Amino acid sequence: MSRADSGEDAGPNLDPLHAPKVFDDTDTRIAIAGHPLHAMLVAFPIALTVCTLGADLLYWWTGDGFWARVGLWAIGTGFLMGLLAGLTGTVELLLVPGIRSRPASWTHFVIAVALLSMLGANFGLRLSGYEDAVLPFGILLSGLCVGFTALTGWHGGKLVFDYRLGTGGSAS
Ligand code: HEM
Repeated sequence: MSRADSGEDAGPNLDPLHAPKVFDDTDTRIAIAGHPLHAMLVAFPIALTVCTLGADLLYWWTGDGFWARVGLWAIGTGFLMGLLAGLTGTVELLLVPGIRSRPASWTHFVIAVALLSMLGANFGLRLSGYEDAVLPFGILLSGLCVGFTALTGWHGGKLVFDYRLGTGGSAS
């Protein structure tokens, strides 16, 4: 099979007859036994961001420093796992022609990077006094992070379930 036939030649002079082949090349490359690593990793920042807001609310309610410490660990681990998830997502985005060529993938990238910067800010704020940081700015940031996590996760789901990106099958 020639390069043109395989659809790899996605340069400016791409024959329109071959364009769909590039567009349809959406199979995951960063995977273990066909299971995309990104999909496995995103569960951690999603769950830990919600846990951070929960811990902040409990600290507000009880005043117990234990919950402020839980919040510090939850947001720190959520941020680090979010960076790992972002790394696998970015490599997938850059390597797979059918993912790279869809505007929706880049929208997801932009929302996700905004989320990661908020998670990092929420973690950094707590490093110089995790109890004092919770009220009011920590808890406000946690609420914002949960909203952006929902937006990022919902949009990521659209990439998989609407466009079939990063799955084993071909694009619709
Ligand atoms: C920072 C750069 C990121 C990029 C470039 C990126 C890219 C992608 C891509 C290409 C997919 C399609 C499936 C795949 O190919 O694995 C996807 C799915 C998804 N992404 Fe991201 N992502 C990023 C960060 C995040 C973060 C931080 C979250 C966490 C909230 C997230 C949540 C999701 C979810 C929930 C899915 C659907 C997974 C599934 O249901 O299988 N992404 N992302």
